[in-house]
Amino acid sequence: MNFDLKTLDLSGAVSEKCDLLVLLVPEGFQPGADALSTLVALALKNKDLETEPGKHLQLYHAPGIAARRVVLAGMGKGDARAVRQALAAIGPVFKAGAVKRAVVCLAGVVRPGAVASVVQNVAHASYVYTTTKPKAEARTLGRVVVGVADADGVADAFAHAVAVVAGVEYAREWGNRPANHATPALLADAAKALAKHPGVQCKVMGPAEVSRLGMGAFLAVARGSEEPLRFIELRYSGAAKTQAPVVLVGKGITFDTGGISIKPAPEMDEMKFDMCGAASVLGVFRALAELQPAINVVGLVPACENMPDGRAIKPGDVVTSMSGQTIEILNTDAEGRLILCDTLTYAARYKPAAVVDIATLTGACVIALGGVRSGMFATDDALADALLQAGEAADDLCWRLPLDEDYAEGLKSHFADVGNVAGRPGGAVTAAKFLQRFVGEFPWAHLDIAGTAWKSGAAKGATGRPVGLLVHYLLGQAAKVPARRAPKA
Ligand code: BES
Ligand code: MN
Ligand code: ZN
Repeated sequence: MNFDLKTLDLSGAVSEKCDLLVLLVPEGFQPGADALSTLVALALKNKDLETEPGKHLQLYHAPGIAARRVVLAGMGKGDARAVRQALAAIGPVFKAGAVKRAVVCLAGVVRPGAVASVVQNVAHASYVYTTTKPKAEARTLGRVVVGVADADGVADAFAHAVAVVAGVEYAREWGNRPANHATPALLADAAKALAKHPGVQCKVMGPAEVSRLGMGAFLAVARGSEEPLRFIELRYSGAAKTQAPVVLVGKGITFDTGGISIKPAPEMDEMKFDMCGAASVLGVFRALAELQPAINVVGLVPACENMPDGRAIKPGDVVTSMSGQTIEILNTDAEGRLILCDTLTYAARYKPAAVVDIATLTGACVIALGGVRSGMFATDDALADALLQAGEAADDLCWRLPLDEDYAEGLKSHFADVGNVAGRPGGAVTAAKFLQRFVGEFPWAHLDIAGTAWKSGAAKGATGRPVGLLVHYLLGQAAKVPARRAPKA
């Protein structure tokens, strides 16, 4: 899908030839002398339209307006969240077969974040999963013009948002793929395909190399599966070699049955989403490839299935992690932390500026924060603040949770240095405390995206979160280092 940004006031929007014209109407709307203004003023006066986000009015062949279909939609204060609500309410219109070219126009003063929110939420509403569904159902919306009073003033935000959309959609499509179409090997192929972009490199390791590295915890999870594991290493080089990279680590469990501690049958299909952390890392690299920012980024993805099998690990088994610490695997369903701990140990070799891991790690995080904010843990206040702010700016929120040492009590084991579970209370925190044991001398943050990476029920599907948050965070870091390559025009 193509996005264009255009300077457009309402008198210009009136003559835009398109299948759909969406006009976002703010509080205190000031009508002009054009046909659209007249229409909006009348609809507001007669209470057929309100400026509250979610309220809208659809019209066909409105007199004096070139668009075939017009939707007037309230956007309240016009901030990112209000724009999201406004576009969510009219979402289905962007999937209507007849709508190939749309114009979305923001009336009045454009608030920070509003343009990015339009791009993101139009993309969100029109996205159609295609990998294992017939092409006939593919997305019909091909071109979207975003109209604002002053295009120059928001050009950067617009370009960023378009790149984020490419990353989010990449993450959504891979997240949505069923496990038999997103095996560790296929994920590795997707990463290799990203390395065709300038500045991106990819290296993939299999079981033999991972075994040589001594990643006993990762190997332990993978042993129950017929699908061989992959360890994916992506690099984006946009700054001088001397610049320490930010390392992103994505949980890549392509299917989580729970292993011998098997999960109950209902909704188990959703455990194909257990690689959404990995998908978000791939999505970030997709966006970086587009934006070419002046920063170095490494993406690490341990990818495997968690299956029950004659060779699978059993509750009580003790394995030796790459760090040398022994782990008593008391519950084979707490597998994410096992593949991540070895990857965190490996990450130290990059002498990173920061490491951020992204994982659908705990059901407990879903209980704590639901689907609104991702859980965030950090050993470093500056990193935590940067991630919180990036989440706000991208309308992809997170919330900091604690790492008090007292939470680690329950991880003690009689038979190993550490157990992999600590009982039900504070489950998201104890998982983070487990990971923290493997963190080296670098600022570290952990994003638990179990509640935010996908939606269940009628709207079942991957969300592409937290690609927006991560890209914003990285662009913020890039601003601090000198460029090595000119960004793409
Ligand atoms: N992938 C799951 C976490 C999960 C569960 C995410 C449900 C979203 C919805 C993870 O591997 C897991 O199974 N965690 C266990 C940990 C427990 C055994 C300590 C959990 O949360 O139940
Ligand atoms: Mn599990
Ligand atoms: Zn899992």
